[in-house]
Parts: sequence; structure tokens; C-alpha cells
Amino acid sequence: MRKRVIAGNWKMHMTCAQARDFMAAFLPLITDLPDDRTVVLAPPFTAVSTMAELAAGSCVEISSQNVHWQPKGAFTAEISAEMLLEHKVRYSIVGHSEPRKYFSESDEQINHRARAAQSHGLIPIVCVGESDEQRERGEAERVIRRQIEQGLEGLDPNNLVVAYEPIWAIGTGKTCESPEANRICGLIRSWVGATDLVVQYGGSVKPENIDELMSMSDIDGVLVGGASLKPEGFARIANYQDS
Ligand code: 13P
Repeated sequence: MRKRVIAGNWKMHMTCAQARDFMAAFLPLITDLPDDRTVVLAPPFTAVSTMAELAAGSCVEISSQNVHWQPKGAFTAEISAEMLLEHKVRYSIVGHSEPRKYFSESDEQINHRARAAQSHGLIPIVCVGESDEQRERGEAERVIRRQIEQGLEGLDPNNLVVAYEPIWAIGTGKTCESPEANRICGLIRSWVGATDLVVQYGGSVKPENIDELMSMSDIDGVLVGGASLKPEGFARIANYQDS
């Protein structure tokens, strides 16, 4: 059975002091998780080291929100895999729709980032997903397939997580209907051609919809934005009820 990966992407939220408060409230709420679940939190870079210390000995793994493909050099604002590994980071989110949109990240760059992550032993969480307009024009599958083919080229599917995050569902409160999210997650796994590939859904995941999403056969986990900032809410998501 594929493992379940419940991840929180904190984006540009949480100082170190706020991260400490979060973990003090959150960790006692997730002590009885079933063994098949991994909980991942992706703080901003400034809180990575603090979070790694706080998470030590718990079931929480730390993710970065990005990684560069070069080991070092003149790349202002970037971070290398080696720098992350020093702080016990295990996962790296790459290809999120926000850097795709705000910094024009291409599938080729995303592929470089994901390959560098894997070659250093980090597990990339590669995000894909269509915009509102693309879905309305009936282009969703074509767009996602291109992101998969170009973004995942040469990657090892056994050390990889793919997150299907329809852009229109991110931060909007508009969740993709579970059967449709499930259909796309299944398509992604079939396009990659790896039955063990872990595929997450992301976009307005909250305590109210987690049980239904996780009951879907092709959804192996979730990538949560806003609802991962509240310890009680994110703990409820991590403790989702199996149907
Ligand atoms: P929301 O859960 O706030 O919609 O954000 C989803 C997301 O972008 C996670 O990476």
C-alpha cells in the first residue's frame, strides 16, 4: 500500500516564535497516528532549523519550499540541497503554482530542481495543476500532462510525491470535487506509469473535507496551505478518519 503523506505548506507565514507555539500545540495532538501516515511541514527558510529541532523524535518531517539545482554559487535568494540537508530537511516542494506564476518558473527549471533534490536524497513534492481558464477551455488534462512529462523527466517515481493542485482551488475555499480530484490523481499516476507513485491533492483542504478526500482510491495525501497554520485544524487533518 502507498504511504499517506499529509503535508502543510506554510508559504510566507510563521516566524520562529510562532512556529514554536504551533509545535507546542500540534505535537501532542498527533501522537496516535497510524503507521502508514507521514506528516510533513514546509516552513519558510528562516524557521527550517528551529522546526527541525522541534520535530526531532516526532512523526513530523520537514520540507523546504524550494531547492536550487546548483550546489553553490552566485544565485541570490536560492538555496542548495546541501544547505537543507544540514538541517535534516527530507522533502522539497518544487513547481508550486505561486513561483510558476510570480517568478515564471518553467517546467524545465522545475525538473532541474526536482532532479537535484533526488540526487541529494531529498524527496521532491512536485506540484502540477491547471488554471480556471484552462479548465473552462477543456485543457486541464493536456496542461497537467505537459507539466508531468516535462517536469518529471528522468525522476525516480519511488522517491517522489506529485501534488495535484488546481490553481482555482488554492486559497479560494473552492475545493475540487473529490471524484474529479481522484480522477486526475489516477490519471497522473497512469501517465507516470508507476503504480507506487504517491499523489496528493491540494487546494482548500480543511478539516471539513479531509475525510472524504482521503477516502478516494487514488488520493494518497494532501498538500495543505491555509488550514496547516492552525495546530488544531491541521491535527484534525492529519488524524483523518478512514472510511
Ligand atoms: P490552500 O490550502 O490555502 O488552498 O493552499 C493550497 C496550497 O497552495 C498548498 O501548497
